[in-house]
Amino acid sequence: MVKLSERIGLISPSPTLQLLKIKNTMKKQGKDILDFGAGEPDFPTPEIIKERGIDAIRNNHTKYTPVTGIPELKEAIIKSYMDEQGFQPGEEQIIVTPGSKFGLYLILQAITDPGDEVIVPKPYWVSYPEIVRYSGGNVVYADHLKENSLFELTADSYTEKFSGKTKAVIINSPSNPTGMIMNSEELKKIISACVDKNIFLIFDDCYRRIIYTDENFESPLKLFPDSMENIAIVSSLSKTFSMTGWRLGYTIASEYICKAMAKLQGHSSSNPCSISQKAAVGALLDDQSYLAPMIDEYRERRDFIANRFNEIGNISFVNPEGAFYFFADFTYYINKMGFKDDGDFAMDILNKLNIIVVPGTAFGAPNYLRISYANSLKNIRKGLDKLEEYLKG
Ligand SMILES: Cc1ncc(COP(=O)(O)O)c(C=O)c1O
Repeated sequence: MVKLSERIGLISPSPTLQLLKIKNTMKKQGKDILDFGAGEPDFPTPEIIKERGIDAIRNNHTKYTPVTGIPELKEAIIKSYMDEQGFQPGEEQIIVTPGSKFGLYLILQAITDPGDEVIVPKPYWVSYPEIVRYSGGNVVYADHLKENSLFELTADSYTEKFSGKTKAVIINSPSNPTGMIMNSEELKKIISACVDKNIFLIFDDCYRRIIYTDENFESPLKLFPDSMENIAIVSSLSKTFSMTGWRLGYTIASEYICKAMAKLQGHSSSNPCSISQKAAVGALLDDQSYLAPMIDEYRERRDFIANRFNEIGNISFVNPEGAFYFFADFTYYINKMGFKDDGDFAMDILNKLNIIVVPGTAFGAPNYLRISYANSLKNIRKGLDKLEEYLKG
């Protein structure tokens, strides 16, 4: 056996992807699993998008593509981002990546030197700290877990962590796992502060189309078009269009950032999947009337869970404004039932109820559970009935 690199020792496997493995094993054992761990929509990819993919295969669009994406898709991104977010990027300001996760990876590899600090929101999406560490950077947390903070994504939570070593901040709005959205005032404040100190702002908006409030979701680039040198928007088709397996995301940033990312993409993945790129054109430009019913259904599930949690009692949570996760504090039950921590609690729930939930510790928030409602209302009802009986029993 060869010695593994020190670098690879800096990171751990993704806990949410490990859960997927557990689920598949339990399914093979014939168990009827209720999965509230999923980080992906339960809806299939819309037919209209699938047809585009099938056409791409039939028409032999199955070869290498330009590193940063096919021109047709870039045009679709330019048009759809302008229509939806009110900012028109140039073609050289876009890089299409195999999923937005890889986009984040490329940016952090491109800008981070050893010892640089990158401020990450906490609770965090599981991959942020790992990607930062792998880039050689040090992770610093913007704390949204403070008592009574209601997970608010404030500019202060970031600026109070600024130091001479701060290289970048990552904002995730709507947030995974909390579902919170950063409002325009806070967004303006944090962008100004970053521009002022020449800090890079990475804005992960992969859930931006899954929103339940009427508040305007504003693009940092629309708010500060002249500060693009300090901003990258990292977007995904995975969640909005139920395309997680197609691996398709894109980053909008200055040309110098896209070029740096492209160098690494060219020597690693080469390009995003040619077929997925063709399907993505359809997702962005074809009729999207399937979207509103999906959001309505997520909203209905969210409201259902909020009501049930209130009925069960002693579970504290903030109603999510976007994405499809509840991030709820189960301290009362963890203590009452004598569990060591949220990991043991989640494992007991899995073993006794065949229900998958993700322990909060995976997101830097002990005593919480993340409950994904990317599952049918029928299953959610069944799962919460079982959970209520378990908690009260
Ligand atoms: C906050 C956040 N960012 C990025 C991603 C990556 O998504 P993808 O690589 O499928 O585009 C995820 C996926 O779970 C996520 O939750």
